[in-house]
Amino acid sequence: MSLLSSNSKKIEPAKRLEGSVRFPGDKSISHRYAMLAALAEGSSEIHFFSSSADCQSTLNCLKQLGVKINRDGGTVTVQGVGLDGLRPSAGPLDAGNSGTTMRLLSGILAGQPFSSVLVGDASLSRRPMKRIVDPLTLMGARILTSESGTPPLEIEGRTLLPIRYELPVASAQVKSAILLAGLFAAGVTEVVEPLPTRDHTEIALEQMGAEVGLHGHTVAVRGRAKLQGKKLYVPGDISSAAFFLVAGLLAPESNLVLQHVGLNPTRTAILDLLVPMGGRVTILNVEVVNGELIGDLHVESSRIEGGEIPGDDIPRLIDELPVLAVLGTQTEQGLSFRGARELRVKESDRIATVAENLRRMGAEVEEFPDGLRVAGKQKLRGAAVDSHDDHRIAMAFAVAGLVAEGTTTIQDCACVNISFPDFFETLSRVAG
Ligand code: S3P
Repeated sequence: MSLLSSNSKKIEPAKRLEGSVRFPGDKSISHRYAMLAALAEGSSEIHFFSSSADCQSTLNCLKQLGVKINRDGGTVTVQGVGLDGLRPSAGPLDAGNSGTTMRLLSGILAGQPFSSVLVGDASLSRRPMKRIVDPLTLMGARILTSESGTPPLEIEGRTLLPIRYELPVASAQVKSAILLAGLFAAGVTEVVEPLPTRDHTEIALEQMGAEVGLHGHTVAVRGRAKLQGKKLYVPGDISSAAFFLVAGLLAPESNLVLQHVGLNPTRTAILDLLVPMGGRVTILNVEVVNGELIGDLHVESSRIEGGEIPGDDIPRLIDELPVLAVLGTQTEQGLSFRGARELRVKESDRIATVAENLRRMGAEVEEFPDGLRVAGKQKLRGAAVDSHDDHRIAMAFAVAGLVAEGTTTIQDCACVNISFPDFFETLSRVAG
């Protein structure tokens, strides 16, 4: 693998992948710890905080809201201001590329006695916000969006009322926005999910002293909780590890250890899928830290059968679908999934960007409004592919390049900073 320019990368086929890899702290958990630490009483020390640009966007917004935050590499110290201690920002709050920053922070800002403006980059400015505006408006906030329901958001915070809300789409971001708003409402706020999504908000709320209830698909939080600052440890991001997991399974002579990976069951559907299909993955050194499961994954080259990804599992592997589509081309039977319309409104339209790039590499792909079918046993040809400025597309096609014939050039790779700044350096360290 060699560097073309800072923004374009060349990937050569890998004979083997060998070594140990550590990943950035989980992005979802880092956002939540930072936000809840800001609303807590006393200070919190967050270790292994994500090195991603997205989580830095969250820290920047919180600073603009009057929270004192000190960052020393992976250790972030947050001086909590308590539930009523945020101050209006002098200017717009910039969420950058981060949907999680914008949607979760909106829940908090909805309950403030002041107004805020939230903006984002070109990609975030195209993403749907009605999904959070509707429930937060029901709770009493006033929120303006563009005519098409996209950012910027102008949020007039109000005294909020608790609601019971049935989510129309399975989205952890929307669930979390409502639960965070629920902290500012007197009484119990309930969210009903159509399918289970990542539950890091619920776990973190409980860890910091809030009263959280779970019954079936319903999550409840009691408002006006007194959150307590504490020492927190962020697990490695399984959505970043997924690229090395898939690369390790597909490359011919792999022997990889993926260290300290978050194994919360709402995030491990990729393992539930690939192990029964023949993936040689062993889980080692499991522990529970701050209510989150962490372990090491030992990955060896495998023959993967393929098949269909069950629709009910989609929310638990939503961010892994681009790299799973790449894996599909190397399986015995191919891989297909439906029920993933949400992929169309991520950082890029990931159904379209995956299909386009796989075709550029010579693969046979069928595109559906809500999914993809990728034929198996395909020879990928090195080609020029485009990340569409989407970090997960850049990394998924780096993995494709490792198993292709010839050289793959990925345009617009600086976007890997959004979730995994050291991705290419880490890959070249383990790829032989
Ligand atoms: C996230 C939830 C998912 C995921 C995103 C992070 C979170 O989005 O795609 O990368 O931290 O809650 P949705 O909940 O909107 O599906």
